[in-house]
Amino acid sequence: MYKVTVLEGDGIGPEITREAVRVLKAAAEKYNFNIDFDYALLGGAAIDAVGTPLPEDTVKRCKASDAVLLGAVGGPKWDNLSGDMRPEAGLLGIRKALGLYANLRPSKVFKPLKNASPLKLGDTACFDVMIVRELTGGIYFGKRGRFERDGVACAFDTEEYSQPEIERIAEIAFELAMSRNGRLCSVDKANVLESSRFWRETVLRVSEKYPEVELSHLYVDNCAMQLVKAPWQFDVIVTSNLFGDILSDEAAMISGSIGMLPSASLSSGSFGLYEPVHGSAPDIAGTGKANPLATILSAAMLLKISLKQEAAAAAVEGAVDAVLSQMRTPDIYEDGLRKAGTCEMTDAVISLI
Ligand code: IPM
Ligand code: MG
Repeated sequence: MYKVTVLEGDGIGPEITREAVRVLKAAAEKYNFNIDFDYALLGGAAIDAVGTPLPEDTVKRCKASDAVLLGAVGGPKWDNLSGDMRPEAGLLGIRKALGLYANLRPSKVFKPLKNASPLKLGDTACFDVMIVRELTGGIYFGKRGRFERDGVACAFDTEEYSQPEIERIAEIAFELAMSRNGRLCSVDKANVLESSRFWRETVLRVSEKYPEVELSHLYVDNCAMQLVKAPWQFDVIVTSNLFGDILSDEAAMISGSIGMLPSASLSSGSFGLYEPVHGSAPDIAGTGKANPLATILSAAMLLKISLKQEAAAAAVEGAVDAVLSQMRTPDIYEDGLRKAGTCEMTDAVISLI
């Protein structure tokens, strides 16, 4: 019996996690295993219920499970709260509390959605990139503050990385490159930042253990450009927390469908937290229009990485691929296909499993 804690969060979070849970139940039944679901509060929902974006009880429940499935957090209702009381603080807090230092964000062209990409993708030009973002260090967690100098108001944030922090994320990225096409690009700003020069040095040292992997380095500004110029040149990208945040949004957009992209946040061992790359979309919450596929694909990553149920994961992924040529939610709708809502799309995925 596996245990999965569900953090529904805000906006469309409850709707899309509900659908992903239905898919997980169907996969479990088909492949003969059991999942026990537990629910806990995070983000705005937690602020409303108990006055804090990350209740202690939530951390405890997550730690007692094999994996966590997360919807999304945030919304206009909580936008005026101070930094550490915002829903986003709950998200950063849970990553840190669970030690989820490795964030895997795949972005690829789903063949049936090729025309949705803002790039002109020829028949052969496709891409399939895995961004490995360091998730519990760097400027997100460095010292920050406000001060006054000569009567002028100032603010600062600090980028800091330790050698073990860089080594462990580099190792995850090299391992992933080995299991894919053998290419790893490390992204930094080593022409300016000391922390980036240290990042590059450390990644180079780790690379000695992986002679089969072809390692390259790019400055982050150049990488941003290369991603729109020729995204097919990339296999795995490894980078810091802040650069990974920015580049993963860019990579998601060029796939044409942020509503399709899953992510996994991992610690050492098999425990992980899985969530769609998109946000809580408060504007369409409750309308039944949200695309559930990114969360369903996140559930597939959960099956594969944390529960080691590879056949079930493959079945879910295959069902998602197949459903795209039958029906679409509005975000990815194309003429000639059936228009579907959140539930209908999930029903179709389940029947294909
Ligand atoms: C993400 C988000 C978060 C981040 C925000 C909501 C704090 O943009 O998961 O990419 O910056 O990490
Ligand atoms: Mg982001």
